[in-house]
Parts: sequence; C-alpha cells; structure tokens
Amino acid sequence: MHRADHRPSRRTFLDVTGALVAAGLTAGCTPDPARPGPHAPSAAATPVPVAATGRHQAGVTLPQPAQRNLLAVVADLGAAVAPGPLLAELGQAIRTLVAGADPRLLGLPPGDLTVTVGVGPRLVRTAGAPLPGAVDLPRFSRERIAPRARGGDLLIQICASDALLPPVVAAALLDQAGDRIRERWRQSAHRGANVPVGNGLSAPRNPLGFIDGIVGPHTTAEQRRDLWLAGPPAVAGGTLAVLRRMELDLPRFAALSVAEQEAVFGRHRASGVPLSGGTVASGPELGAKTPDGRYLVPVDAHVRRANPAVVGVGLMLRRSYSTDGPAPGLLFIGFQNDLRTFTATLTHMDASDALLRFTTTTASATFLILPGFDRQHPLGSTLFG
Ligand code: HEM
Repeated sequence: MHRADHRPSRRTFLDVTGALVAAGLTAGCTPDPARPGPHAPSAAATPVPVAATGRHQAGVTLPQPAQRNLLAVVADLGAAVAPGPLLAELGQAIRTLVAGADPRLLGLPPGDLTVTVGVGPRLVRTAGAPLPGAVDLPRFSRERIAPRARGGDLLIQICASDALLPPVVAAALLDQAGDRIRERWRQSAHRGANVPVGNGLSAPRNPLGFIDGIVGPHTTAEQRRDLWLAGPPAVAGGTLAVLRRMELDLPRFAALSVAEQEAVFGRHRASGVPLSGGTVASGPELGAKTPDGRYLVPVDAHVRRANPAVVGVGLMLRRSYSTDGPAPGLLFIGFQNDLRTFTATLTHMDASDALLRFTTTTASATFLILPGFDRQHPLGSTLFG
C-alpha cells in the first residue's frame, strides 16, 4: 500500500471507543473519575476508559491527570526480528487488553488502562531515512548508569489507576512478544494526590514535596507546536519520549530549610507559586529583584535553568512518576517533538542547576512514540509496514 494511503484521517482512526472519548474531548470534558464513561460499570469510583486507538497513542496527554501507577518496560529486539509484525501484534493485544477482552487480563477490569509503545534509535535507523527518534541521547553529568539501563529498542509504558494492572498487562505483552524480545530493565512508579494548578489542570507532588508538572504544552495549539510530530508521514502523530530514572538524596534535601528548598526550585513548596509571585499558573518572572538587587528566582533555581525561553526551546510535556525502589527517586518522563528540547535543557541545567546536586541518574533512554493506530492502521505500520 502506498504511504499516502496510511495517512491518518481523523475519521478512519476513530473506532467505537475512540469516538466516544473524542466526543467527550470536543465537548471540553476532562475525564471525570466520578462520572462513569459509556463502557464503564456503574460503580462511582470506576475510572473512565481511555481509547487505545486514535491519531495519537494514549498515555501521553490522556488521561489528564495521568493515572496513579506506571510500569515502564524497556526491551531489545532479537537481531533477526522484523519490527513490523511484532508491533502490529502488540497493538492488537493492546486493543484487546484495553477492551477487557484478553483472557490474560484474568478478569480484571481494565479501567483507565493505557499502554504506550515507543521504539528506540537503533530501530528507527533501520526504517531508513534520518527520522526524528534516530539519534541516541548523549551522556550528561551525574550519571551512574549500568550498560543494561542505557538505551533500548522498545518501550512499553503501562499506566492505570489500579496498581494491580500494570504487571499483569506487562506479562501479557511480554508473553505475546515471546522470545522475539529480551527485557533490559523495568521500573514501576507512582504519583501522589493531584493538586489543582489552574486552567482546569492538576499535577502531583514529587518526592521532594514540590508540585511537579505545572509548565508544559497543555493547550491544543501548544501540543501541535511542541509535542506532536507533524511529519514526515511515517512519524506524524507520534512524539519523542525521554526517560531518566533519578535517585534523589532525600535526607540531604530534607536537611535544608524550607526557604532553601524553595530556592532550589524557584517556587513555593506549599502552593507551587513562583518565588517572583503571582499564582501557581503564573510563569516565573525571571527579571524580578528584591529591593537590594537579588533575583527573587535565584540564578541557579531549577525553573530558571530549565525555563524554555531562557534555553531557547519549546515546551516539554513532563509526566514524571515517583519511584520507591531500588532507591527513592523520580522516573522523569518528558515528551517533545524535538529531542533538542530535552538535550539543550539538560545541558543548560548541567552547568549550574541547584537541583542536580540532589540527583544521580541511573537509567536513560529515548524512544520514538509511534503514531496512533487502529484496526485498519496497525501499530508501527507507518514506519515498518
Ligand atoms: C529529580 C529531577 C527533577 C525534579 C524533582 C523536577 C521538578 C520540577 C519542579 C517541581 C518544577 C516546577 C513546577 C513545574 O513547572 O512543574 C519543574 C519545572 C521544570 N522542569 Fe523539572 N524536575 C526534575 C528534572 C528535570 C529534568 C531532567 C528536566 C529536563 C531536562 C526538567 C525540566 C523542567 C522544565 C522544562 C520545567 C519548567 C520550567 C519553567 O518554565 O518554569 N526537569 N521541575
């Protein structure tokens, strides 16, 4: 089939479930856990299902806010394995799992289960021309990364409100892939309670006590500009993910006064309001000074060093989760349509970000999150079809 025949049209991409969720979105609805969706059982706390199919994969912008539990599995493909059929099979299994129709789900209700699949730079390079996602992440400071935990061919990101689901879904998908893939590392992680951060959005606190996920491409226009890949057609509708697992030195951070902790981030711990004032939704005013001429947002504060305007990059969608093992920390997950958004930001942070003193990175990888799929357009078919 000619490439152009694969180009996603909004209409052909929506299967029944997709149409239902999309209808909710065009009506401006954020999924409301208290209001069961059309496919959900009537129990009040049942999470709203998220369509597995559509122009974009689920688990990036949807659901908002993100589910409480995540399991990321990173694997390599065997040298002789063709990615196309494997990805198509995984996509089919994902649709069946999300619909609650796979016996390997053992009767567990899928709720708001999402599975997001990405392919690593080596696989992207085998698809031919230089495509977004074909470049590996460089090394940065404060890394202590075992070879096994750097890079990888395949990311399976599984999220759900029900903590029981991710390992069960991972087992089903690994069973589906069989000996065609070899697991490299996995990380399970969780998010705390959500705090409203304005504009109808909410975000959780991270293990350092600060609200995390305020600034990002949250409007449709910002997501079109900075998040989703517009082309070439093989990757349109996808995005680039960066995963960085960081251990955090909690005792050393907790030994600081609250004011010192707030200076590390440049925002107030309790409210998330920038140290330059305003509301939690206000961007930090980086030029604002005290009467004696000191910056209200210190020169080495994280929100100054990571500020997209200062760095000269677009917005990244941060969807980080807290980890409890092997050491307490953060699984940083950032999505953007240009890898430079991440690399230039971290390079700028590396020079003097006060936050980095409390972090050691122990896993690092980037993946092309494949464009969305449905029954007619198998997962990965635009790239490996
Ligand atoms: C342990 C690691 C990290 C923690 C605990 C952390 C936490 C935070 C917090 C609390 C904020 C302020 C609130 C918000 O806008 O969400 C923030 C902002 C931000 N972080 Fe991080 N972060 C970490 C690592 C990173 C890394 C590795 C990057 C990218 C290279 C990054 C990029 C950003 C960006 C772009 C902002 C928004 C800055 C702004 O415009 O105000 N962060 N982070």
